[in-house]
Amino acid sequence: MAENFKKSYRFAYLSSLYITIVLTLALGVFLYTQSILNPIFVIGFVLVCYAICFFIIQYRVERFIYRRVRKIYDDIEMLDVETIEDTPVTTDMRTLIKEVEKFAQQRKTEIETLKIREDYRKEFMGNVSHELKTPLFTVQGYILTLLDGAMKDPAILDKYLNRANKGVERLIYIVNDLDMITKLEVGDLNLNYTGFDIVELVQSVFDLFEMKASKKNIALTFDMNYTEPIIVHADKERIQQVLSNLIVNSIKYGKEDGTTEVSIEDLIRNKVIIRVTDNGEGIAQAHIPRLFERFYRVDKSGSRKEGGSGLGLAIVKHIIEAHHERIYVESDYRVGSEFSFTLEKVKKFPVVDVSTKTS
Ligand SMILES: Nc1ncnc2c1ncn2[C@@H]1O[C@H](COP(=O)(O)OP(=O)(O)OP(=O)(O)O)[C@@H](O)[C@H]1O
Ligand SMILES: [Mg+2]
Repeated sequence: MAENFKKSYRFAYLSSLYITIVLTLALGVFLYTQSILNPIFVIGFVLVCYAICFFIIQYRVERFIYRRVRKIYDDIEMLDVETIEDTPVTTDMRTLIKEVEKFAQQRKTEIETLKIREDYRKEFMGNVSHELKTPLFTVQGYILTLLDGAMKDPAILDKYLNRANKGVERLIYIVNDLDMITKLEVGDLNLNYTGFDIVELVQSVFDLFEMKASKKNIALTFDMNYTEPIIVHADKERIQQVLSNLIVNSIKYGKEDGTTEVSIEDLIRNKVIIRVTDNGEGIAQAHIPRLFERFYRVDKSGSRKEGGSGLGLAIVKHIIEAHHERIYVESDYRVGSEFSFTLEKVKKFPVVDVSTKTS
């Protein structure tokens, strides 16, 4: 540890200077009263006195700092603090105070972050149990009614079993979303990058939700006719999930006879931006900053028509950020919403596979 020791001579300089001045003055007065004041002797005294004081003070300071302050450094190191570990032990009090203050500030910020995380965790647990309770109680209700004798009627048996099954499906849906969000948050989700045609993927998502859209007579369209494929570099399955969540939202919160339009535009630096626009109920500005939080829903009442757990957009944001891309939202209440995200485009010219050529 001795190598990691930064000496400061400031304290010894000044202290020796003060002592030398005081002693020289005292000596000068004494010699003067005795009428034997000799300037050469005084100068010699100044030099010797200063040198002796300097070495003694510096030696004592170093020992003091080294023993006591080193212990403080060691104690702090015990807390596993990398920042302090790297800094040399300094004998300069001002630097030392600054370092300790910096250390205290860092700990304070760390504790505050932990507190925020703890509150977040508590809120998360509360939300999870709340979301799971509703479908669980529904399922239990149907099963108990059946056990109470309703199962003797085959028509009711069939109806209630179907409803209980719907409840179970809802539970599975929430648990899957939770599983996905946990994986995304701990960075456990390995992205499987490939090059694929985003136009084709959007079309396949349209096909998937055509039935759902037709129930509200919502048209799923592109803004123009994309004749050429647009190849992007991303995890196809995850991007399909992003598109599904955004398109399902646009249907769920869209108005009857409305439209969901998808556009794919070139952006600077080899990027494309994919926009999903609807003319549905829109979102009031006050809700926008919190929209991507997990469990955040604009309409929190239990009577809402479209039952969602508020995890969809949180998942979408995580997936896009895992790709190091960005997601944007613009919305006007009662006018409509536009969710857009960027992706990396693959260069148009295909790479020739040299390995297949034989010489
Ligand atoms: N296109 C949209 N138009 C209007 N409101 C929207 C739109 N998309 C999302 N929202 C609002 O944002 C909230 C959060 O959306 P999110 O997709 O995260 O959750 P959800 O749809 O309620 O549930 P989940 O997607 O988990 O089934 C929704 O409850 C809804 O109020
Ligand atoms: Mg949703």
